[in-house]
Order: sequence, then structure tokens, then C-alpha cells
Amino acid sequence: MTTLSHLLKNNQTEISLPFLQQLDSQDPLAAKRDAFVLPENTVYLDGNSLGAMPKLAAERAQQVLLQQWSQDLIKSWNSHSWIDLPAIAGEKISQLVGAASGQLICCDSTSVNLFKVLSSAMLMQPGRNVVLSQAGNFPTDLYMVEGLASLLGEQDCQLKLIAENASDELLEQSLTEQVAVLLLTQVDFRSGRLLDMQRLTELAHAKGILVIWDLAHSAGALPIELDACNVDFAVGCGYKYLNGGPGAPAFVYVAARHHSAVHQPLSGWMGHSAPFSFDKSYQKAPGISQFLTGTPPILSMSVLDAALEVFNDVDMSQLRQKSLTLSHCFHQLLQQHDCLQQLQLLTPLKPAERGSQLAYRHPDAYALCQALIAHGVVADFRAPDILRLGFTPLYLRYVDIWQAVTTLARLVASGEYLKPQYAIKNKVT
Ligand SMILES: Cc1ncc(COP(=O)(O)O)c(C=O)c1O
Repeated sequence: MTTLSHLLKNNQTEISLPFLQQLDSQDPLAAKRDAFVLPENTVYLDGNSLGAMPKLAAERAQQVLLQQWSQDLIKSWNSHSWIDLPAIAGEKISQLVGAASGQLICCDSTSVNLFKVLSSAMLMQPGRNVVLSQAGNFPTDLYMVEGLASLLGEQDCQLKLIAENASDELLEQSLTEQVAVLLLTQVDFRSGRLLDMQRLTELAHAKGILVIWDLAHSAGALPIELDACNVDFAVGCGYKYLNGGPGAPAFVYVAARHHSAVHQPLSGWMGHSAPFSFDKSYQKAPGISQFLTGTPPILSMSVLDAALEVFNDVDMSQLRQKSLTLSHCFHQLLQQHDCLQQLQLLTPLKPAERGSQLAYRHPDAYALCQALIAHGVVADFRAPDILRLGFTPLYLRYVDIWQAVTTLARLVASGEYLKPQYAIKNKVT
């Protein structure tokens, strides 16, 4: 397999179609594309927002609707293990994020899971009231802290933000005795910048701070070592790189060392130690199940569970190599087109500092994105001026990079993207 380090070592800067075809012919993940249903004549560069549909997911949806629900009805909670699906799917995700068994479970949305871990962590830190995060963090992460602060009051919870591009020194100086929780997203949703989980977790722990990582843009996109990095809490989405389908359940990780001390306040019956004893008062389940709240959404949970099987035989370091090589080729090829020089790369180029997406600033990024979509290259736009492209190694081919960049160049060179229809704002961008 040709990896990014080979390309860089051989000083391979000129990207040609035959070269990309050669990379495809050597790609150990090439056959995985067949595990997905993909629309004809489309290059999908938005799997970082909504993953493509695995064939297994469609098969499972059929089974759950046409056999389990319609024929086996309520017996399915036991006979088809519906009740265990949050843990079963959670174990599959554990394998992808370096978590030993029993610490990760699928449920709710990332936002709701964030509320659960944030409030649990704050309760574990009496005498400290600050949640430290980044100004550029995904809004829901910050909104959930605001919500908790309005519930607890300023004296018990306040949000402090550091600038997105703050220096390491400034970040270190901000880790004070007042900080209860450091809340970070591993890969920034706009820029695609990848943070050093190991180092930041270590620095925070040295000051007695608990750390929550949002893995929305990293789970399923790169190797993650939650246990080895000694992470306290993590959350992430099921519908992005994990391909669980629109609105798929999210996941929550809580390190086993916290299971006995922790109390999460959304104490619903599914997190009870014996839900079907219908006790009058709440007694939390001993392990990660205490992070469940209500009845799991079986249709979407089943689809997520099936989608995760695609990863069974995937070597995450191979996946990471392909992701980096795809994005490297995209950027190199983009630079070969004079007409694309106005696109300003926002993503750090160093492999250790970027996730699985590229983000470019352009004054007409929205129109460019709409024109690309109309011409079969699906990307997305993030306000105010970012064109975002996600690289999903399980179903993208190297030749797709050629198709995407040459389409972009054609749209820019011809001025096609300036047509009024591409300026019409949709509700979802
Ligand atoms: C970094 C990050 N965190 C959280 C979320 C929101 O997740 P949910 O809609 O499951 O609450 C997103 C959604 O894109 C995200 O990018």
C-alpha cells in the first residue's frame, strides 16, 4: 500500500489520474466500497456529516420491521435481544476507540449524553465551578454547559472559553485550580484540527481536572485510545463516520474507575439496577448501563448495530493512512489548478494535526458547495465561509478525488457557481 509517508518521502507532488488509479489498485480497503449502497455518478465527500448506507444496515432494517416487530412483536425484547442492543452496539464502538469492555453504551443524542457526563463530572468536583472549553467548539457542546449553568447557578457552574487557536502555553495557563472539567472536541468541526488527546488529558489531570472528549468527528475516522489516554468521559455521534443512519443513536464512554462514584441526573428507569422490578426509588445500575435513561429506539439502534459490522475486519491504522493520503491528494491536486488559488486552506497540513476532513475558506463557499452538489460532488458548507470536504476511506476511491477537484475547477473557471440558483439558502447546509 502506498502511504502518505511514501508520497512525502518520494516528493510526489504531481497528482495525475493514472497515479490515483494506481493508488486504487493497491488499496487494501478498496473492496469495502462494495459493503455500501452509493448513488450513481456521485462523489460523496460528506460522510463526516452523514455516513453512507451500509448494505447490512438496509438488510437489518428489513428484518426488524418485517420479522422482529411485525411477527415477533414484544417477545423480541428478549428473543432478538432488543434490550441488550445499547450494550451490544456499544461494545462494537469500544473496539474502535480503544475502550475495554463495559465502559461504553449507545443511547440518546450526543447533546443529551454531554449533559449526562457534564453534570456527573461537575458533581464529582466540589469546590470547583469552571467548565473550560474552546470558543470554536461545536455549539451544542457549549449550549449544554450554558443549560447546566442556568440550572446550577453561576456559583456552581460557569463556562470559560479559550480562543480556538490559543497557544499551548495559554491553554496550559488556563488549566487552574478553579477548573472542574475540560471539555474538548478531538477534531474541530470547522477546521478539522486534531487535538493531542494524550497530552491534554495528562495536563488536565495534573491539575485535578476531569476531561470530556467529544469524538463526533473522530470515532470511526482515526484510531483512538481512550483507555490508554486515561480519558474520563467521552461522547460521540453514530451517524457520521460510524454510518448508523440519519439521527442514529449516539454513544457515551465513562471510564470504569468512575462507575461507582458517578451520579448522572437523567436517572430514568433504563439506568436502574433492576428496571423490571419497578422499585419506587432509583437505584443506579452498577456499570455503564447507569448512563441509559429511557427505552432505546430499536429501529435506529438496530441499523447502527448492523452498520458497525462493516468495521469488523478493518485495521484502523490502515484506514487512517488512506484518509490522510486521500486528503493529501485532494489538496495537492487543488493546488495544481490556478483558478482554485482563492480557496484558503483552514486545516493544518501536518498529518498529526488533522482529522479526516479539509476545510477551505472562500467568500462564495455556499454557492460553490451548492454548485458542486448539483454536479454530483456532495460536500457541505459551514457558516460563514467554509467549504468542508470529508474523506471516508471505507467507500471513497482515489479516482473520486480527481472527479471532485476537476469538477470544482470547472465550476470556478466557468463562473457557473455564480448562477443565482446556487445562492438560495436551504434550511440545512
Ligand atoms: C462535534 C459535535 N458534537 C455534537 C454534535 C451534535 O450531536 P447530536 O445532534 O447527536 O446531539 C455534532 C453534530 O454535528 C458535532 O459535530
